[in-house]
Amino acid sequence: MTSPPCAPRALDGRAAVVTGASRGIGRAIAEELARAGAALCVTARDTEGVRETVAALRAQGADAVGVAGSVADPAHLWEVTERTMAAYGRVDIVVNNAATNQPYGPLMEAEPDAWRAAFTVNVEAPLRLVQCAWRAWMGEHGGAVVTVCTEGAAHVGPNVGAYGTSKAALLHLTAQLAGELGPLVRVNSVSPGLVRTEMARFVWERAEESVAAALPTGRIGEPEDVARAVRWLVSDEASWITGADLLVDGGTRVRAASPTGDAPAVQNRLRYHLPGS
Ligand SMILES: NC(=O)c1ccc[n+]([C@@H]2O[C@H](COP(=O)([O-])OP(=O)(O)OC[C@H]3O[C@@H](n4cnc5c(N)ncnc54)[C@H](OP(=O)(O)O)[C@@H]3O)[C@@H](O)[C@H]2O)c1
Repeated sequence: MTSPPCAPRALDGRAAVVTGASRGIGRAIAEELARAGAALCVTARDTEGVRETVAALRAQGADAVGVAGSVADPAHLWEVTERTMAAYGRVDIVVNNAATNQPYGPLMEAEPDAWRAAFTVNVEAPLRLVQCAWRAWMGEHGGAVVTVCTEGAAHVGPNVGAYGTSKAALLHLTAQLAGELGPLVRVNSVSPGLVRTEMARFVWERAEESVAAALPTGRIGEPEDVARAVRWLVSDEASWITGADLLVDGGTRVRAASPTGDAPAVQNRLRYHLPGS
């Protein structure tokens, strides 16, 4: 007796590039897209990190290749595109996830080189990678792009001025690309709140309890929370969505909009759900 055929998966037959996929949110996105059937090309600067991610993806049954290098290097971005085309003959999905939160500190102390580096990695690299994918495949065959922004791009905060300004620019870039690349290519972003990764370790190691208590969801994010949103946005289920920013923030924006700014989740629930409260 033959076994029944496997159900088709949402991203079967598609090839995806995920930058910054050696750990954290990028790694979770790569694994999630692979589970949905996509073949992967993953990147990060650390060669060992890329090798380890490729091995983990293959161990879960996915087709995976990797290219080590910095997204700040245009030659690396073209190499990533060529490697994906060589391996799979297509580049259907680009996830611009790699980013830097440096320089950290007041803007009056931001050195020109560090400021430029933030914009190169966080804003210019996503544009350059989409240009590569457009020229190699998407300009003729279509595709889907997701940029990973941040919920924090909507606020000002101490010491994160360069990061926040660059991510706000990335939000605009995402919308602009959506306008320019339709109807062939959909371009959206996700904006995470505080997620348990290396980049945000400084915050959640010191303040997880208070941050979680202030959120309507009562917890900080895990990389998989963001990965599932990205998987949906690049799938055909989101085929009428482009130029959108999807908050994946556990309700951070709701908290920020509350009168006290940091009302505990229980107070939010009382205020919004109890009649007359
Ligand atoms: N964690 C949060 O709370 C949070 C909140 C909002 C938004 N985000 C956004 O989520 C995305 C992922 O962040 P994360 O928290 O997962 O950070 P992470 O754990 O520090 O991971 C960053 C990944 O990007 C790679 N990377 C860093 N700079 C790179 C470069 N120049 N070229 C290529 N790869 C580079 C890192 O590997 P190598 O070091 O080996 O290059 C690593 O794989 C970022 O866009 C970040 O802004 C995070």
